[in-house]
Amino acid sequence: MTITETQSWKALEAHFEAVRGLHLRELFQQDPQRAERFRASFEDLLLDYSKNRVTSKTMELLFALAREAGVETQRDAMFAGRKINETEGRAVLHIALRNRSNRPIFVDGKDVMPEVNAVLAQMAALSEKVRSGEWRGFTGKPIRNVINVGIGGSDLGPKMACEALKKPYGAPHLNVQFVSNVDGYHLASLLDGLNPEETLFIIASKTFTTLETMTNANSAREWILNAMKDPKAIARHFVAVSTNIPAVQEFGISPENALAFWDWVGGRYSMCSAIGLPIMMEIGAENFMQMLDGFHAMDEHFRTAPLEKNLPVIMALLGIWYNNFFGAETHAILPYAQSMSRFAAHLQQVSMESNGKSVDRTGNLVHWQTGPVIWGEPGTNSQHSFFQLLHQGTKLIPADFIGFCKSQTPVGNHQKILMANFVAQTEALAFGKSTEQVLAEEPGISSALAAQKTFEGNRPTNTLLADELTPRMLGILMALYEHKIFTQGAIWNIYSFDQWGVQLGKVLAKKILNELSNQAPLSHDSSTNALIERLRERG
Ligand code: F6P
Repeated sequence: MTITETQSWKALEAHFEAVRGLHLRELFQQDPQRAERFRASFEDLLLDYSKNRVTSKTMELLFALAREAGVETQRDAMFAGRKINETEGRAVLHIALRNRSNRPIFVDGKDVMPEVNAVLAQMAALSEKVRSGEWRGFTGKPIRNVINVGIGGSDLGPKMACEALKKPYGAPHLNVQFVSNVDGYHLASLLDGLNPEETLFIIASKTFTTLETMTNANSAREWILNAMKDPKAIARHFVAVSTNIPAVQEFGISPENALAFWDWVGGRYSMCSAIGLPIMMEIGAENFMQMLDGFHAMDEHFRTAPLEKNLPVIMALLGIWYNNFFGAETHAILPYAQSMSRFAAHLQQVSMESNGKSVDRTGNLVHWQTGPVIWGEPGTNSQHSFFQLLHQGTKLIPADFIGFCKSQTPVGNHQKILMANFVAQTEALAFGKSTEQVLAEEPGISSALAAQKTFEGNRPTNTLLADELTPRMLGILMALYEHKIFTQGAIWNIYSFDQWGVQLGKVLAKKILNELSNQAPLSHDSSTNALIERLRERG
């Protein structure tokens, strides 16, 4: 039976017809308790989901859907270390990376926790050496620049977290940077002005074969060798994080500077593994552990809380309500914190690489919508770019507003202004402004102009409000979204932990790279042939 054939799905379809026309104005008017009814919290994180186009009945039916889809059984299978990534024959155990309870977790009969803890200790020792100045470059200088070379999951999560926590948790004496794009501009512009003698590269790649990362890593090695003229310098200026330790050694990085992780960690779920080394370099081992504590606390909430109080499940179901019933195509992530400016970018990979699938677990094409387009930018900047469309456009775009009561960097009354906007936007999106209101405010304006100034409202939002953005809270928020995405994949009956969709482009790029370097006859379509020819001529 497919998900759309279940009783709960059918009940939701019928219910949708009955409630699709309801306006949030009516829902709030009818129920003075609405804000209390539709809220859930975890520690000091509040999820207010009352500004969604749902009734108590909607939520009841959505929870029934989660139960009928076997979300709890699937969740338990992941936590138990079952090989739920069936297409790659792997367990999915990012939760083990932050299993601060240290309860044994088995893969193929072996408890993975001793190895997880050993690598965390190795990371702590290494980052402490660099942060304290004990680690010296080849010419004896302490390290001032740490450059992570990686892409996708080996870049986005750590970059997001370093930026989110830099103030006030970062090491002011270390310049932690990230190179990901194979466009030479990225590496060149970053290295510009840096002293190689004071620079340490972290080559972060699960496979240690990714073309972009290996190209950047090789150019970084050349940069170090050009400056130091001695291959022994590599050992003082490069460390690596990978599951492919033989390839790391072949690159010239000594085994004691190679940090391992495991095939049961998906790239996009790897920021709590040694892939998080740049985060630890930036904020120190103690703060990193607090971030892991936050992840773990949310993991435990997801694992044990009843579905009705389970934040990731509630957010997943609301997402399904809009995606599969209202036909919403996208979902906006809007942190009201400049430090979280890369949060949506990281979630794009976590969500879209996980749930951007069109074949179900039986190998059949799905005839229901799966993962939405995820996008977003921090407020208030976003208000001055795309909010016009959110308020008055023709598309329904559910959005998550994420904010904090206290500032990480208090300056005058900035935080009050920021948060006034945060609250005002969800109010405006939900309730809008009727034509009658416009006319009452501006008597005598034409009805055509009044129409332009009317806000329909009824735009759904979630509000996530926490006291402050600490390492622990970042861990809580990240795990919340990871498990939201898991729950959605479970309901859509797709494999959320593989990413076959990125292979074809990689294979073709390798072929075209050869063709750009020789004059061999081309056998692509006419458009591709012409583009290659032009690059051959003009490149
Ligand atoms: O683009 C696909 C992908 O495999 C991602 O899933 C992954 O995060 C990224 O490439 C980088 O891979 P690696 O860490 O092996 O270099």
